[in-house]
Amino acid sequence: MKILVVGGGAREHAIIEALSRDEVTLYVVMKNRNPGIARFCEDILYMAETEIEKITDWAMEKGIEMAIIGPEGPLEAGLVDELQEVGIPCIGPTKELARLETSKSFTRGLFEMFDIPGNAKYAVFHNMDGMREWLERLDEYVVKDDGLCGGKGVKLSGEHLETIEDGLKYAEECIIKHGSVVIEEKFVGEEFSLQALSDGFTVIGSPLAQDHKRAYEGDTGPNTGGMGSYSDHDHSLPFLRPGDYEEALAITQKTCDALREECGVPYKGVMYGGFIATRDGVKCVEFNARFGDPEAMNVLPLLESSFLDICKAMIEGNLKPEMARYKNKATVCKYIVPKGYGVKSLVGAEITMDEDDITKMGAKLYYASVNEENGKVFTTSSRSLAVIGIADDIFEAERICEKAVSSIRGEVFMRHDIGTPEALQKRIKRMSEIRG
Ligand code: GLY
Repeated sequence: MKILVVGGGAREHAIIEALSRDEVTLYVVMKNRNPGIARFCEDILYMAETEIEKITDWAMEKGIEMAIIGPEGPLEAGLVDELQEVGIPCIGPTKELARLETSKSFTRGLFEMFDIPGNAKYAVFHNMDGMREWLERLDEYVVKDDGLCGGKGVKLSGEHLETIEDGLKYAEECIIKHGSVVIEEKFVGEEFSLQALSDGFTVIGSPLAQDHKRAYEGDTGPNTGGMGSYSDHDHSLPFLRPGDYEEALAITQKTCDALREECGVPYKGVMYGGFIATRDGVKCVEFNARFGDPEAMNVLPLLESSFLDICKAMIEGNLKPEMARYKNKATVCKYIVPKGYGVKSLVGAEITMDEDDITKMGAKLYYASVNEENGKVFTTSSRSLAVIGIADDIFEAERICEKAVSSIRGEVFMRHDIGTPEALQKRIKRMSEIRG
């Protein structure tokens, strides 16, 4: 089967590796040369992933039979609509359905309209009228840009926004950029990611993961696309209670049904819910319309069943829970990023690593937004390499990951605290204080 994967990051490297376990011929569209992806591919189109007409022409020329869209940018640009128009089925939603991610106000409104549990108290503003009063009423609040911002559009009171004036100023910037802003209550708890696969009727869950958005250790510094993540052998997380997983999955199922009813077409693709466990149960922070990055690397390497078969079932509309079987292993993923990442990345710096050594240590290496030239690997402005330790428990997975990163050299940095016993204990303690 000829499959097109759109995107050139570590998430897409993991998707391609999962697909390559079956008889497939792989084609990819990416901006830079990702050497990990390139080695699997029959042909590569080097191009911005939002050039939807050119990508569609190329897909037709190559006789593509199915496309999988990695990042959110091409979903927002309408790549799935274009590809479907010429008869190429896609894993990924149309532009209208992708509002699940691209419009925070759409998703909050959908929850309200269909009475889906886990919604926040929220208001959408198109100008500054009444905003100060709403911020004062909420006390603790979250300001969300109502458009795509690469994971950097959300700011929280008490963390990024110290005063009401800061909140008003950031909200005004969002309105100028995307025409509207969502301001909602701030939930207190621990966040987790549930990446569910959907054929538009049935959703099936995958192991939960927790991402680390802040650039520096101890969850400090600027927001990033995600510095690393971990998952546990039981597919839950150490700070959660029994029932939290099911609550998040039920919210995802209701959202899938609501989308079908509201848009009149089934959602085929990944519904990646950002959830938070609070004193009052599981709440939804946001939805994304694709695999998480880094969270894709916590789940796809553990998949025992055929990812190709799952994708076919999503397209045909006959997805069944037993189709996705995952190993009972824990994973820890840490991103190696260019010096300055989160503020101003050092672009074009060479990175060296011993891939064989990393593999021998039991870890996996996924190339992210790097560029290979003449056999050498260079940084771009985004994340560079993802290293994943896999083991029976999180601590062993973390140890393997740390050992494996030691061969990586260059002007780069990473968060060593992800998945450590200290960091996990802090989260467990915090959660038990919140929930009593
Ligand atoms: N884990 C952050 C994201 O994929 O948006």
